Amino acid sequence: MTAWAELHVHLEGTLEPELIFALARRNGLTLPYADIAELRSRYEFGDLQEFLDLYYANMTVLQHREDFADLTDAYLARAARAGVRRAEVFFDLQAHTGRGVPAATALEGVNDALSRSYDRHGVSSGLIVTLLRHLSAESAMEAYEQARASGVPMLGIGLCSTEVGNPAIRFKAVFDRARADGLHTVAHAGEEGDASYVRDVLDALRVERVDHGVRVVGDLALIQRLVDERIPLTVCPLSNVRLKGVADLTEHPLADLLRSGVRVTVNSDDPAYFGGYLDDNVEAVRRALDLTDDEIRTLALNSIEASFASAGEKQQLASTWA
Ligand code: ADE
Ligand code: ZN
Repeated sequence: MTAWAELHVHLEGTLEPELIFALARRNGLTLPYADIAELRSRYEFGDLQEFLDLYYANMTVLQHREDFADLTDAYLARAARAGVRRAEVFFDLQAHTGRGVPAATALEGVNDALSRSYDRHGVSSGLIVTLLRHLSAESAMEAYEQARASGVPMLGIGLCSTEVGNPAIRFKAVFDRARADGLHTVAHAGEEGDASYVRDVLDALRVERVDHGVRVVGDLALIQRLVDERIPLTVCPLSNVRLKGVADLTEHPLADLLRSGVRVTVNSDDPAYFGGYLDDNVEAVRRALDLTDDEIRTLALNSIEASFASAGEKQQLASTWA
């Protein structure tokens, strides 16, 4: 079977309504929704912030180590069915410590599932702790230090949450520190913010990949820079439509960026909220944008090449497309 790498998925965004209700029951919590249908009826978002408000609220059901392990394992099982053989998952540590969950509890739960991902699901995996850009630089540094102190293996750090009005430069110190510690770096940019936000994460944070990045469209100099510097974009098509960044999938810039030579990859972002996992995203853009089999293959090979897997693993994953 052909292999994909998923490089942009928030574990908390894989929290399905069924699991929200199951965890609420297990933890003795009462949810502000009568049932799953009522919860799902809230999954209409005018913009990123409307989504984030519900996304953070729903996380309150995640309380114990096994809750984080169950969440992570459920994603890995579903991702494996989507053809994912390498998953570099985002985890919003501050969203849990900020409501009183110890960092070690959350991280060890995630790690329980990630450390078994290859044996259980045939998926190699890595953890990227995503710092929240609506919080302070001090909070980001504290979260980074807590993550390091936990001893849980980390592949890298990222930056997510509310983009517009929260300049990336504030997080330079923690990104410099992570890089000095040998970690990889990525950041969300150009999802709602304009192309200047993408330039900022490249220049100020020196990230290796840009998460989303679709708003570079129209900035020819920046697009040329992405091509020349071979900077991958982890694009999330269904997410962009559901958060109203793109009016319709047929108008999604993914195909134009790909045909301009940008290293575009396809990812699911928050699949429990946006209507689909990696396979659903690939199929949706294939249809909406008339992608050829060759272009689908390029997207998959881009995902493998843009991953932080070892050279040997990349070669093995790419060989499934030979
Ligand atoms: N956190 C979870 N999903 C996100 C998104 N699409 N953009 C920014 N932060 C996020
Ligand atoms: Zn994201």
